[in-house]
Amino acid sequence: MSPFHLTRTLPEDATDAALRADVLHGLSTAPKTLPPKWFYDARGSDLFEKITELPEYYPTRAEREILIARAGEIAAATGARTLVELGSGSSEKTRHLLDALAGLHTYVPVDVSESALTQAGQALIAERPGLDVHALIADFTSGLTLPDTPGPRLVAFLGGTIGNLVPDERAAFLKSVRSLLAPGDALLLGTDLVKDESVLVRAYDDATGVTAEFNKNVLAVINRELGGDFDLDAFTHVAVWDAGNEWIEMRLRARGARTVKIPALGLTVDFAEGEEMRTEVSAKFREDGVRRELAAAGLDLTHWWTDAEGRYALSLSMPQ
Ligand code: SAH
Ligand code: TRP
Repeated sequence: MSPFHLTRTLPEDATDAALRADVLHGLSTAPKTLPPKWFYDARGSDLFEKITELPEYYPTRAEREILIARAGEIAAATGARTLVELGSGSSEKTRHLLDALAGLHTYVPVDVSESALTQAGQALIAERPGLDVHALIADFTSGLTLPDTPGPRLVAFLGGTIGNLVPDERAAFLKSVRSLLAPGDALLLGTDLVKDESVLVRAYDDATGVTAEFNKNVLAVINRELGGDFDLDAFTHVAVWDAGNEWIEMRLRARGARTVKIPALGLTVDFAEGEEMRTEVSAKFREDGVRRELAAAGLDLTHWWTDAEGRYALSLSMPQ
């Protein structure tokens, strides 16, 4: 069987320290916020996979459609020997790229979710003898160091996950990605597009409540890791379209007034009836904006592909 390496660049206790700092800060400010990367423990990663199969959640299907149609062009344009994937999750759609990249030597999936990386990595090496899989447990927003593997490199960032960063974070993130690229390397970016509000809201507030469960999972993570006593049933999932910022905002709304204790932080937090905490944004894009944000980071957009219905785009860009 081909090699499978799993490297942890996030020390286990750093995860804990970062969670504490994020929760302490987020629950002490007004309005309260909780940081999104803590959704993805093993249960959160499983719930996200269920989201990708919901009839309302079109981005996964739209992105898969584009990957199937364009993988050959992507392979021809990049000639990649190393594929790095940020926020790789289950690596499910990535198989279309792996199939098309004929000269591929190494696949480097990067994720904060150890359970997702291990499951996906083990499955891939069993399916593809000859492919090196070098998985990295790392935070893609804080100074990645990539393994020394053959170029050219293609860095993929799929799933519209870039929309979960706010504009300042996106600018810093794209600059850090640019610094990983040498001449001849490329970035493949998945961006969900601005569209009818009702379609967007349904994608983030499905009829069966899977997205609600996913959103509330962040409270379960705080309860487990920090001894919190959040009652998950006392919060309601809310998804609203912010037309000014062109993003969907996910919130948790307290059903009634209550006090929550988080012993590991020595924190007591009061919620007023109806008080809302922001847990995640999912920004939606337009071609001009994507081109502009890439250019500001030193990247030239060379290809723009959408699905047949024009809901979602994949773009390829290269160092200027
Ligand atoms: N690419 C997959 C999964 C998208 S969900 C798809 O398109 O279906 C977002 C993924 O990014 C999750 O697997 C989550 O664990 C990971 N993630 C979120 N924030 C992260 C961060 N700061 N650093 C690394 N991975 C992160
Ligand atoms: N990257 C996904 C997106 O923005 C993440 C996501 C999907 C999500 N559904 C969610 C995050 C619900 C929070 C709550 O589409």
